[in-house]
Amino acid sequence: PMPLIIDTDPGVDDTFALILALLSPEVDVRAVTVTFGNVSREKTFANARRVLALAGRTDVPVAAGAVRPLVHAQGELAADWHGADGLGLRSAEFPEPGPADPRPALTLMADVLSASPEPVTIVSLGPMTNTALLLAGHPALIPRIARIVAMGGSLGTGNTRGAGEFNVYADPEAAQRVLTQPDVPVTLVPLDLTMQCLADGAWLDALAAGGPRCAALVGTVTLYREMFRERYGVDAAALHDTLAVLEAITPGTLRPKPFPVSVACTLGPARGMTEVDRRPDAPGPLVQVALDADVPAVLSETLRRLITLG
Ligand code: BDR
Ligand code: CA
Repeated sequence: PMPLIIDTDPGVDDTFALILALLSPEVDVRAVTVTFGNVSREKTFANARRVLALAGRTDVPVAAGAVRPLVHAQGELAADWHGADGLGLRSAEFPEPGPADPRPALTLMADVLSASPEPVTIVSLGPMTNTALLLAGHPALIPRIARIVAMGGSLGTGNTRGAGEFNVYADPEAAQRVLTQPDVPVTLVPLDLTMQCLADGAWLDALAAGGPRCAALVGTVTLYREMFRERYGVDAAALHDTLAVLEAITPGTLRPKPFPVSVACTLGPARGMTEVDRRPDAPGPLVQVALDADVPAVLSETLRRLITLG
């Protein structure tokens, strides 16, 4: 199986994404590293370990990473979407957190990359701070990275600012570092696609019927779904981070196309905007940007895999 490091800030959709990876036989999750993001790093770290316990995978090392962005303070948390606990106010229904790896996230990432005979895919599901620090601090390990698949960005409307998507807006300098890294294949899964892949009531009910652990997973979505209805007038939940995992597990599923991408790092209204340069001859390292997918197939495949949690 393909070796994977998942960097995450759970987070309701992060929880779905982690479970999806842990249940997929094509990949071997070698490490989970945790960043600040939807809620504080203290909470995301405990949540990641709760999710691993729910999946029965406390054998996977989980290490704590960045507590804040590289340069400026974090603009805002996403606790209104993910609940003050980061699990839709349902953390009490999850098992107690599994063990914490004593290494800092960067050390764990570096250890996994050094030890793996094959290059490792990094899946980034939160602010890109840990991954940016890895690239900056361990240049000798860059050839050991098979690919980075990151959920983030938007070509159009943002979800945190007019043009700013949450993960990129949370640490624009880190995102700029990752998205302009030469010699590493990077795939970006932006809102333009994730906002088309919506789990509706029927999808969530089908998952909840899969068993008690599936039901616990679906329970975390209640608040998120209410927020989604309030903001977008649609009764559904976007599965954002799960799409990045699906693309990492089954490369090409999201049919990405190559464009240079840069991030607005200025302070002001454009901060956190991702500029995807779609001119045919645009210069710069190319990022594979996932703008298109067979949406019904993505939804049914995600459900098929998640339901095996039981
Ligand atoms: C991203 O922001 C977070 O709130 C979600 O977990 C996802 O990673 C979507 O913009
Ligand atoms: Ca996330």
